[in-house]
Amino acid sequence: QLQVLEVVVFSAPSYACQRRTTLDNHNAILTDALSLLAENAELSGEDGRGVAFRRAAGVLKGLPEPVTAVTQLVGLPCLGGHSLRVVKDILENGASCEVEDTKQSERFKVLKVLTGIFGVGVKTAERWIQEGIRGLQQLQDSGRTLNRAQQAGLQHYEDLNQHVTRSEADAVAAVVEEAVASVLPGARMTLIGGFRRGKLTGHDVDFLITHPEEGREVGLMPKVVSWLESQGFLLYQKTTKNSYLEGEDGPARPSSNMDRFERCFSIFKLTEEVNGEGLKPWRAVRVDLVVSPISQFAFALLGWTGSKLFERELRRWAGHKKAMSLSSHALYDNTQRRYLRASSEEEIFAHLGLEYIPPSERNA
Ligand code: GTP
Ligand code: MN
Ligand code: MN
Repeated sequence: QLQVLEVVVFSAPSYACQRRTTLDNHNAILTDALSLLAENAELSGEDGRGVAFRRAAGVLKGLPEPVTAVTQLVGLPCLGGHSLRVVKDILENGASCEVEDTKQSERFKVLKVLTGIFGVGVKTAERWIQEGIRGLQQLQDSGRTLNRAQQAGLQHYEDLNQHVTRSEADAVAAVVEEAVASVLPGARMTLIGGFRRGKLTGHDVDFLITHPEEGREVGLMPKVVSWLESQGFLLYQKTTKNSYLEGEDGPARPSSNMDRFERCFSIFKLTEEVNGEGLKPWRAVRVDLVVSPISQFAFALLGWTGSKLFERELRRWAGHKKAMSLSSHALYDNTQRRYLRASSEEEIFAHLGLEYIPPSERNA
């Protein structure tokens, strides 16, 4: 019998929202390398290059088996010359000099430490570096004025840079569930973000809250936050207003006089099971809460489930292929000049002319 020695040549559609990407990544070595270059580009203010590396990594995450030669990649979208060179280096030499040099670079390391502080973005980190700050201790000693978020971020730096586990996410969920049920019986809470996609760890825990009766969710966020605060669960919280009102400003424009509180970035004080002496009785965990009226629930659910690349690609698909504007609030058809209603994620995919992709396959 003839032995088939041909290698597989991969193919894939070009938008991440057309592909099914599970957490079962057969090319983690390659995608970790490309993600690191994406992160470095983002930390350098080169967002375009960052997106290009993210898209390349996204394509490789979805391949059904490990890549063994670059020739297998000839037909694939999103893999530019630069990404292919990195892949080739790793396949042929076991590593990419560019990736290794980036990892070792002082600038990258310092930027990662400083932006690792909750509340610190690239611009602030840049400024501190220019002022000679190279690390956390130095920042603390410098007497720099930090805003409330950054103070909390620095204070809980270690906890917040340690992955949240699924069981910790469940413990947070139980608390949020109790808060929601206490302040508004009948309100519903859904786990969103990476944990909804089936991830086993995350950098935070994300929840979406709504009420089946339109309008009942108004004023809900401040009540939930007060309850959590009164029970001692919050180390930090910042609640921001909803910036959207359908019809008033058009599909993407923020409105000025909206008084629904919509989202809350917080740090929870999570009590852990104490299994021995010397263990801290609690730890800090980042938690994001979002409140949505039921009429926007499907859009909020889709928009906050991620991954970030999947979301970006959904909006790009909507705009470029369908002349529609998709947000976490609504879908607007620019040709028909009207909003398209949906009460489930399935309906939104259908409006967009896309096959339905469940959360566990949105891990691009
Ligand atoms: P980890 O938390 O790192 O495990 O991953 P994650 O996928 O949960 O990421 P994250 O918590 O940062 O975000 C969850 C989802 O919410 C992603 O799809 C983001 O695109 C989305 N998201 C984050 N911030 C915003 C925002 O300001 N507005 C909207 N509309 N969506 C956001
Ligand atoms: Mn998250
Ligand atoms: Mn989040």
